[in-house]
Amino acid sequence: MDYNIGVIRGDGIGPEIVGEAVKVLDAVSSKYGFGLKYTEIDMGGCSIDKHGVPLTDEAIAAAKASDAVLMGSIGGDAKTSPWYKLEPSKRPEAGLLGIRKALNLFANLRPSTLYKELKAACPLSEATADKGFDIMMVRELTGGLYFGERYTKEIDGLQTAVDTLSYNESEIRRAAVKAFDIAGKRDKKVTLVDKANVLDSSRLWRSVTQEVAKDYPDVTFETMLVDNCAMQLVKDPSQFDVVLTENMFGDILSDEAAMITGSIGMLPSASLNDTKFGLYEPSGGSAPDIAGQNIANPIATILSAAMMLRYSLDQDKAADAIGEAVKRTLADGVRTRDIMSEGCECVSTSGMGDAIVERL
Ligand code: IPM
Ligand code: MG
Repeated sequence: MDYNIGVIRGDGIGPEIVGEAVKVLDAVSSKYGFGLKYTEIDMGGCSIDKHGVPLTDEAIAAAKASDAVLMGSIGGDAKTSPWYKLEPSKRPEAGLLGIRKALNLFANLRPSTLYKELKAACPLSEATADKGFDIMMVRELTGGLYFGERYTKEIDGLQTAVDTLSYNESEIRRAAVKAFDIAGKRDKKVTLVDKANVLDSSRLWRSVTQEVAKDYPDVTFETMLVDNCAMQLVKDPSQFDVVLTENMFGDILSDEAAMITGSIGMLPSASLNDTKFGLYEPSGGSAPDIAGQNIANPIATILSAAMMLRYSLDQDKAADAIGEAVKRTLADGVRTRDIMSEGCECVSTSGMGDAIVERL
């Protein structure tokens, strides 16, 4: 069996971390008897430099023609990069939003797990870290404020900016169904996070999700206000299983959920539509400050590749093997700089990739 993988190396640390994920994929695919063919796709800043825009029609077509896309990261330093002199719709981030929309990737899965080997890196109290946590955030990805009508213009003599937060029931339902399906295979609990005490859109999220919950009698359903959730995540993250939320709340909370694991360099993500196709990327950004130095942590991208094997290619054994190899590597005390602790061995980006391949 041969799969066609689109590869967006992107900007900043993207090319380095994707290189390590491809190294691990090649090793695991030969071990488990399937083939992977890679098609390079330009997106983000590097696409601006080459083609003048962050996302071309060819890039979208190439992504659509693949079984799945593996991505590094896009974007540069907003203060120094010439990309940020362009108007917002031509910047690297617009490419990412564009590809999500073009491929209808409405469900963004962001797991946040505290590895027991990395407890020391967890910024929470020792007692909280000892309890551990394993959260799957399901963030709606193609609606809400990031895709609503927006403009800035003078109204009544005052500069006025408008962003629109809009959801229809079917956008909510399909995201909710994903969350409940996933919870069914995990600890069977969904927490819908919203701001239903203020927002109409949140109230629709509640009523639609409540309906969906009826189809999953074995899954516990609860709701939580977003401000409270921000607090609960640092107070007692072990209470969460699947967290379902709209686009902007998910953007913010997923960074928080990532940080409490100790490093955002550890967390993978999957963006899915209603087919097997998915776009897989680390939760962290392009980290331009450390780009090209071979010090970035490639684990998030390697685990994203594992998610790709599981969700898009049905290669669960190969995906498990990567997960196990990552755990063994950490248990053996191999660390990149961001997760370094006393008595461990500090390795480079490529050193971490090699260490994981050795343990496959
Ligand atoms: C993310 C990022 C993007 C988002 C940005 C780069 C547009 O922060 O994937 O979380 O907000 O979706
Ligand atoms: Mg974000």
